[in-house]
Amino acid sequence: LKVGVLFGGKSGEHDVSLMSASNVIEVMDKEKYDIIKIGITKLGKWMIYTGDTQNIADGSWENDRECTIKEFSIFDHPMINEIDVFFPILHGPNGEDGTVQGLLKIMNKPFVGCGVLASSVGMDKVYSKILFENAGIPIGTYMSLYKSEWVLKSSKIISSIEEKLAYPFFIKPANMGSSVGISKAHNRDEMLEGFMEAFKYDSKLILEKAIDCREVECAVLGNKEPRASVLGEILPSQEFYDYKAKYTDGDKSTLIIPAQLDEKTTEKIKDYAVRAFKSINGRGLSRVDFFIDKNTGEIMINEINTLPGFTNISMYPKLWEETGISYSDLVEEIIRLAIE
Ligand code: ADP
Ligand code: DAL
Ligand code: MG
Repeated sequence: LKVGVLFGGKSGEHDVSLMSASNVIEVMDKEKYDIIKIGITKLGKWMIYTGDTQNIADGSWENDRECTIKEFSIFDHPMINEIDVFFPILHGPNGEDGTVQGLLKIMNKPFVGCGVLASSVGMDKVYSKILFENAGIPIGTYMSLYKSEWVLKSSKIISSIEEKLAYPFFIKPANMGSSVGISKAHNRDEMLEGFMEAFKYDSKLILEKAIDCREVECAVLGNKEPRASVLGEILPSQEFYDYKAKYTDGDKSTLIIPAQLDEKTTEKIKDYAVRAFKSINGRGLSRVDFFIDKNTGEIMINEINTLPGFTNISMYPKLWEETGISYSDLVEEIIRLAIE
């Protein structure tokens, strides 16, 4: 089977994608799969890459002149035309948000993971919350904020935010991942700084009341009858699970798999995870993340990730490993689901 792996991408999560993709390519059975690697630079330039997979993670693949085909049409190049199925290992905007999925659909090629609608609403933290709430899954208190509103009515907005959310609260670009652009505001100065940072990534923000919580994640796999994995808990190494706590060597957070929770809570979270996946019209795979309020025990959904991280420390493959599916079998199953 010829598999076209897409990696990199024009997104704040470019570097995470490089780590995810190199891991996935390493474990793919080379007897079964003929892999065509297609890299996307941070500026959005697409290139066919014929060199060593080892050069993907550190970004050096881009500069290998002999192994990159720069000028080609994605709609008409012999290497692309032969591809049976695409595997977009892209995180964040311009990859996980329905844009690339739309392109692959127009190309008439099957691809791994969610379609256009699920990818785009799954990426948008405001729209996904609306769908989760509609599906009866508890969510936390939040507000959305467009840059245009902020510019016009900042003082009015400040008082309504302080009244509804109170400090501390989280400031996030509505469309992003890996904690890029996210901050926790403890006072007005931090709020203003947080807005500036988050608006670098998106013209829409989501603001959320901070919950004193345990963080629990569940992996979902399947098409019409999706399955939920065992749960995993994260103990962040920082005040919250920020980019450093996720990926910086020597400062990584602790993952507890399976999460130590009673059976009732575990089953409830698994049920919510599958419901969340269905609520966005999910397909293939997703990781669904939850908060459990440490004071009240209340379970709330945080977000869904339609192309979750596949780095060597990522939760998604680890959860399936604990559930009984090895990393390489998982990749095979994900590809099988794309062409089912
Ligand atoms: P991303 O899509 O970038 O992963 P998240 O919404 O998952 O963004 O937020 C990143 C991290 O910030 C979470 O894993 C958690 O540690 C912290 N966080 C986000 N929102 C809240 C919240 N409302 N209350 C407490 N912690 C939060
Ligand atoms: N957005 C990152 C890759 C994750 O959710 O794992
Ligand atoms: Mg998250």
